[in-house]
Amino acid sequence: MKIDFPLDCLKDIPTPFYYYDIDVLDQTLHQLQREAAAHAGFSVHYAVKANANPRILQRIRQAGLGADCVSGGEIEAALQAGFKADGIVFAGVGKSDWEIELALRNDIFCFNVESREELEVINLLAEQMGKTAQVCFRINPEVGAHTHEKITTGKAENKFGIAMTDLESVIHLAMCLPSIRFIGLHFHIGSQILEMDDFKRLCFRINHLQDRLEAQGIVPQHINVGGGLGIDYEDPQAHVVPSFKVYFDTYAQCLRLREGQQVHFELGRAVVGQCGALISRVLYIKVGVEKRFLILDAGMTDLLRPALYHARHRMENLSAREEARSGEEEYDVVGPICESSDVFAQSVLLPESHRSDLIALLSSGAYGEAMASQYNCRRLPASYFSFDFQH
Ligand code: LLP
Repeated sequence: MKIDFPLDCLKDIPTPFYYYDIDVLDQTLHQLQREAAAHAGFSVHYAVKANANPRILQRIRQAGLGADCVSGGEIEAALQAGFKADGIVFAGVGKSDWEIELALRNDIFCFNVESREELEVINLLAEQMGKTAQVCFRINPEVGAHTHEKITTGKAENKFGIAMTDLESVIHLAMCLPSIRFIGLHFHIGSQILEMDDFKRLCFRINHLQDRLEAQGIVPQHINVGGGLGIDYEDPQAHVVPSFKVYFDTYAQCLRLREGQQVHFELGRAVVGQCGALISRVLYIKVGVEKRFLILDAGMTDLLRPALYHARHRMENLSAREEARSGEEEYDVVGPICESSDVFAQSVLLPESHRSDLIALLSSGAYGEAMASQYNCRRLPASYFSFDFQH
């Protein structure tokens, strides 16, 4: 990500706002599609939850990805951005009737079904509408991932998915329901995963389940392995584009596919994480008894990840690039929200900073703007794109 335009361009723009480097997004999409295409039958659905900004969605759609949606609103956003319905998968443990109907009306590719109860409701609604719903079952593979406990999903204690022991019985039920077509299996073990061994263990689990099903004459046509590939938050400039080759090669080497089986991926963070930054201004440098607080006009309402997951986003004082500063200082970087968890980072070394300096919180393209809220009656952050500042 480059923020290399003169900061003068920003003088009339209210902060905080999200800035997206479209070159980084395009480069990421290009490498992603190239590496996926190296393997027959691999296709990627972008996880809309990571960033549903309409211009970002359009760019991703133009690159030829499908969409992975978790709500009716996301399905609408994807359709509006031009994603084809037959490339949309719909996941989530609690799909409302109107969301199921919306998906059926638009003939989406597939529902990722998370329970027997949900399957029965989809069948009923599809029957009423004279439709057939294609379904994959989301299986809880009981594979833990090396990531934050709030973003692991594939363990027995998580609310997600159907237990492996119930797999055959739900497939048999699906085969009996008149308005359901069972087409495959779906998995997702968590997010921000950097150890390929976690994905390997998922592959071995899938292989085992496939053997078990095959012994009963069941060969699903589609295997959806979810998303989860992480990005480098510590040194984003060194790893602008994630290692898609290593990621897809891991699946290609470890999954034992049956003839004609298609593999689907649902990547979110790896697609958009590094192209976005939250840009904010320093309001005050408050000198406390023991600490020096750098108070930004951006807070947890704009970027929730640090407060919710203790995530660390790299920070850069952009103004210090244009004006010399005498040295570095240690700051606790905080927002203006009336919550003590509204802290971006403690004890960060930054160039000596002043009121009105512009601070960039990097690697904020995924789960940044998408998780922003209006708590404290604040305004939602606006978004700008690299081409907005080109001369
Ligand atoms: N598929 C399913 C079923 C998911 O639940 C998720 C993410 C994805 C795909 C996309 O995962 P990704 O490729 O982005 O890792 N807000 C948290 C992350 C929550 C992820 C939720 N599920 C964060 O800011 O770290």
